[in-house]
Amino acid sequence: MDEKLLAQTPPMGFNCWNTFMTDLDEDTLKEVALALKNEGFLEAGYNYFCLDDGWENKERVVGQGLDYDKEKFPSGLKAFGDFLHNLGFKFGIYTCNGTKTCAGYPGSYGYEYEDAAQFAKWGVDLVKYDNCFVPSDANSKFLYRRMGQALRETGRDILYSMCNWGFDESENWARTAGAHIYRVCGDCRDTFENVETVMSVIRKLNFSAHSGTNCFADPDFLIAGMNGEGAVSNLGEEVKPNAGYNVYRLQFSLWCMICAPLFMSHDPRKTTPLTKEILQNKKMIEISQDIAGIPAFLCTTEKKHANDVAKTEVWAKPLYNGDVAICLINRREFDHDVCAGFDSFGWLISDMVSAYDVWEDKSIGNHRGNITLKVPGRDCKVLILHHIK
Ligand code: GLA
Repeated sequence: MDEKLLAQTPPMGFNCWNTFMTDLDEDTLKEVALALKNEGFLEAGYNYFCLDDGWENKERVVGQGLDYDKEKFPSGLKAFGDFLHNLGFKFGIYTCNGTKTCAGYPGSYGYEYEDAAQFAKWGVDLVKYDNCFVPSDANSKFLYRRMGQALRETGRDILYSMCNWGFDESENWARTAGAHIYRVCGDCRDTFENVETVMSVIRKLNFSAHSGTNCFADPDFLIAGMNGEGAVSNLGEEVKPNAGYNVYRLQFSLWCMICAPLFMSHDPRKTTPLTKEILQNKKMIEISQDIAGIPAFLCTTEKKHANDVAKTEVWAKPLYNGDVAICLINRREFDHDVCAGFDSFGWLISDMVSAYDVWEDKSIGNHRGNITLKVPGRDCKVLILHHIK
């Protein structure tokens, strides 16, 4: 086995759930993989191509591992995996620690070792392990450890993506289950309100204490580019979800800052130049993939009382080379000034730093002690600060 860490830095890729849910077929998915490559996403680093729920055959034949749906994948999953590998992707798959998956297909409960062995035979490189239909007498923590063990015993490098939505304080034991990434919240939807809900989980969980190299906390998919489309956007709500590009930039920036896994979820066959400008921003991806692997911490809010909900926030991520990336967030609907004081992340108030605006792609001069910028509504600014000695 290759001895490198599987998640030295936060993994990146595409997951098909938000766009297709269970409405899968191999020809469409191949088109999607080609689009990811042709539109530059693979080169930008999004190299895991992940199936989610719905690839499975409805029946399990005991002793043979989970089977795939022959109508959806007439060429089989080994061939599908080979197709992905030939393009340069890694192959991700999904199953569940209960008797059924969340969408009602057979789960891996009681069959963990045979399913893991089957995945390895197909050339799978990532397994997302969900948390539905767990028998009431089973210990979910033990079940996650069991699949982690089964995956390691396959002898294949398989990234383990634990998806128990942060239940049972999973931040305290995900690493012991062998998880390389672990979900800490429910599903991300294409609305500002949903991003706000997930942000409150992120603030509460304190990623900088519970997430790091080879076991990163996962606040779910990137919604950039959904633009109100995709299967999860058509679930019949009165107001069709569509968060908009400023929120997409805000979510992507924060996910890069906190070392979240970067799994895009929109249909790359319908991507737009603006979506690509966000998801393929080189400097942002460098911040995400910084080798120090330190998730940003929340350093300032405008809160005056403990129970206030701050509408502006400053997050700081120390980088390997000694620079500090900061993200100034404005959660109001309209423009607002956000101020970052340098003393909260290690410099003296008398120190001078140069600032580079990542999204504007330009230097914005030298600053002593602090910096204040006008941030558009429901948006953010990301700066890389460099100490001038
Ligand atoms: C759960 C997960 C989602 C997705 C679905 C599939 O809801 O949180 O990410 O995998 O199951 O059924």
